[in-house]
Amino acid sequence: MKKILDLITAEVTKAFTLCGYHEKYGKVTLSNRPDLCEYQCNGAMAAAKEYKKAPFLIADEIAAKLSGSRMLSSAESVKPGFLNLKLDPAYLADYLQEMKRDPERFGCEKAENPRLIMLDYGGPNVAKPLHVGHLRSAIIGESIKRIGRFMGHTMIGDVHLGDWGLQMGLIITELKERKPELCYFDAEYEGEYPKEAPFTISELEEIYPTASAKSKEDASYKEAAMQATYELQHGRKGYQALLSHILNVSVTDLKRNYENLNVSFDLWKGESDAQPYIPDMVQKMKEDGYAYISEGALVVDVREETDTKEIPPCMILKSDGASLYNTTDLATLVWRMQEYHPNEIIYIVDKRQELYFTQVFRCAKKTKIVGDDTKLKFLGFGTMNGKDGKPFKTREGGIMRLEHLLSEINEEMYRKIADNHTMNESEARETAKIVALSAVKYGDLSNQASKDYIFDIDRFTSFEGNTGPYILYTIVRIKSILAKYQALGKDTKAAKILPARAESEKALMLELTGFSAAMETAFSEAAPHKVCAYLYGLANALNHFYHETKILAEEDEAVQAGYICLLELTKDVLESCIDVLGFSAPERM
Ligand code: ARG
Repeated sequence: MKKILDLITAEVTKAFTLCGYHEKYGKVTLSNRPDLCEYQCNGAMAAAKEYKKAPFLIADEIAAKLSGSRMLSSAESVKPGFLNLKLDPAYLADYLQEMKRDPERFGCEKAENPRLIMLDYGGPNVAKPLHVGHLRSAIIGESIKRIGRFMGHTMIGDVHLGDWGLQMGLIITELKERKPELCYFDAEYEGEYPKEAPFTISELEEIYPTASAKSKEDASYKEAAMQATYELQHGRKGYQALLSHILNVSVTDLKRNYENLNVSFDLWKGESDAQPYIPDMVQKMKEDGYAYISEGALVVDVREETDTKEIPPCMILKSDGASLYNTTDLATLVWRMQEYHPNEIIYIVDKRQELYFTQVFRCAKKTKIVGDDTKLKFLGFGTMNGKDGKPFKTREGGIMRLEHLLSEINEEMYRKIADNHTMNESEARETAKIVALSAVKYGDLSNQASKDYIFDIDRFTSFEGNTGPYILYTIVRIKSILAKYQALGKDTKAAKILPARAESEKALMLELTGFSAAMETAFSEAAPHKVCAYLYGLANALNHFYHETKILAEEDEAVQAGYICLLELTKDVLESCIDVLGFSAPERM
């Protein structure tokens, strides 16, 4: 289905050409004076220059041409030469009825050329608990994935586990101190390694910080951890067996956490999966003359002439031959290109890693790991701060674990819901979980991703204002009206959306027409906050309409059924929007 703005633009463009002006002047936009009109066209102002004519004369001609239009109820020329437009209510009702006939997409067309897009998001580190820093990547990435899928693209999400590096050596070293008798530490051991891991997830989560703290105080401990890392990376069997235990235990726990967030990944690849690709990659970089030795390290220059600030070379191997975070990211690109040849890869990572990704992307392009037909995009997000404006911490000042944060919000939500209602305990708990998730996700997604924001539990969990719970409340409100209507023994099978009879009704209808455009922009700009802005406008319009209109008390059956049809469409559109944001609505709240 064509977008409403395109249809109106076509109508106005036709008027321009019929009056002898160039078609480029017919562009229509949403009105920036909603008190005066719904849409506007400023083309006469621009045309005046080309045709050397007073702009209002041109606007007058166009307005006269549009006077018979079925699409517009009014086209007014206003000095100095603007066109103020209003949509015809009957045309608008038909347009919405057409949207309603397509209950999943509401007329939103899928991309003509679907693309294959890989998303690198989540980025948790094995054996370290998820903290709020990982929350944003998961929430934003999941939403971009869903928006892309809605628009008809193939979106592949890869969690890109941090499962390589010193943290593994630290865990191994600490385990060895605690349980030296385990077969994993016996270099001579030839037998099979046990299937059961020699630790649980809570032990693992305690082992890592302990080891990390020790390594900071004790140089020989750190030396041992580095040695263990080296041996692990160079194929020591017992350590590799431990690595797979660490991975299994950790991944099981991560999956549970992500499930609670309604986040899922297509690929559970990690940094370790890239390691086999490193030797050939490095070899080729040398052969092709891109990599050279500088102060003992192997580097690739990534400076460009137009740079205004210094972009340091991309280091591929350290002087001791060890690989780095870079090396892993480049080698990851090798397998991503080989296996998927994506049109684009989007990295949803803390914006503090931007310079790093500039280096990696340039290096990948320069060394031809990634060809010209694949776009690499860095979507850096800002920090989630506490009310004090500093990075979010626990009350004690420590790093807040994601699980604890979520259960705090669940509790807060539960109190609110249990206070107000007559739900039984288990329904209230279930509902609280759903609403709490909306609070967290909407609170995050409604901000432009690159900006820092303040995580304010009181504000995010409020049922009023621009919040997730407010959106859900609106949906639940509609559900309840629909249920009451049904309980009266009525249905809308033979009914349809009727031309608006009041301002608030028309305003709601106009909001609904913006669905496709909102989704398209949210996708093309990788900007879930555009979906939030649309949702908020739509929810406000619905609530305004609800307060102004007697719906269940309406006596004219056809008018009432028309209202109900409009509510059904609104509910479905709202629910599709929250679905791409990654949360859902309860039956009541
Ligand atoms: N594990 C990293 C961290 O916690 C994030 C990974 C981002 N993705 C990437 N391809 N480097 O900071």
